[in-house]
Amino acid sequence: EKVLAVGDLIYPLFVHGGEDDQAIDSMPGCMRWSLEGLVREAGEAHALGIPAVVLFPVVPESLKSSDAAECFHPEGLVPRSVAALKAAHPGLVVITDVALDPYNADGHDGIVRKGDAGLEILNDETVEVLCKQAVCHARAGADIVAPSDMMDGRVGAIREALDAAGCEKVSILSYTAKYASAYYGPFRGALESAPKEGDKKSYQMDPGNAREALRELLLDEAEGADMVMVKPAGPYLDVIAKVREATVLPVAAYQVSGEYLMIKSAAAAGWLDEEAVVMESLTGIKRAGADMILTYFAKQAAAGLQAGS
Ligand code: PBG
Repeated sequence: EKVLAVGDLIYPLFVHGGEDDQAIDSMPGCMRWSLEGLVREAGEAHALGIPAVVLFPVVPESLKSSDAAECFHPEGLVPRSVAALKAAHPGLVVITDVALDPYNADGHDGIVRKGDAGLEILNDETVEVLCKQAVCHARAGADIVAPSDMMDGRVGAIREALDAAGCEKVSILSYTAKYASAYYGPFRGALESAPKEGDKKSYQMDPGNAREALRELLLDEAEGADMVMVKPAGPYLDVIAKVREATVLPVAAYQVSGEYLMIKSAAAAGWLDEEAVVMESLTGIKRAGADMILTYFAKQAAAGLQAGS
């Protein structure tokens, strides 16, 4: 009924401003790439038939601030990476992550205000910055921007900002149903972007909620999302299936860092057959209804699919 294909895969890649390619302690097998390493790795993935990559920048503490202004710097790490990737591999689809956490001194996806009642995320102020970030990425050549921040109203605002900047052809892949998940832990280690205080539960979704995903879907569709996403993937297969049934838009699912690490660490201990479990986990996500799968196993799975075909 369903067969996993290389064309379903999207490869998330970490890039940093330095000259060396660094192993990531919290995610064995993944790297923080230099610009040169990023271009090489993306080229290898593309040669295996992977159509798209999504970029995550590692930003030094010195460039982080409470207004996250580095996120729309025209010569920042992401616009430079996008330009280098598009120059080297014009046919590769380049997706950028739109959210403030890598740039925010507070580690949150939105701008933070600390009051007597504790920490508050400023929704509308954040959306203004996200629009600048999306336009910055689009001007550098990004094909798709992917807001992962979960602020309300950001898809519509980003669409308007892109159109006003003459970037009508840039698509929006919205993180529609992004759960407040402990499975993101290793990723935050990779980017050194964990929140300094508080958690993300005021903007990410409650793991007990499935109908809320459909409500988020209606909002994203009305605001002009071109593609929608469910994240994490494996523990939320029912949500992927519900979203697939409720929309005609392409549905993406993100097999996140914790899902990756569970397979990697069990395989490293000799407890699981890595290749078989990778293929089965991705096939399960596809069977649930995902048209596209973001996975750190993309290259490995593509090589496996090529060898098997
Ligand atoms: C943040 C972002 C996160 C991930 C992608 N974008 C982490 C978070 O929300 O804290 C997680 C990806 C993964 O765990 O692999 N904008």
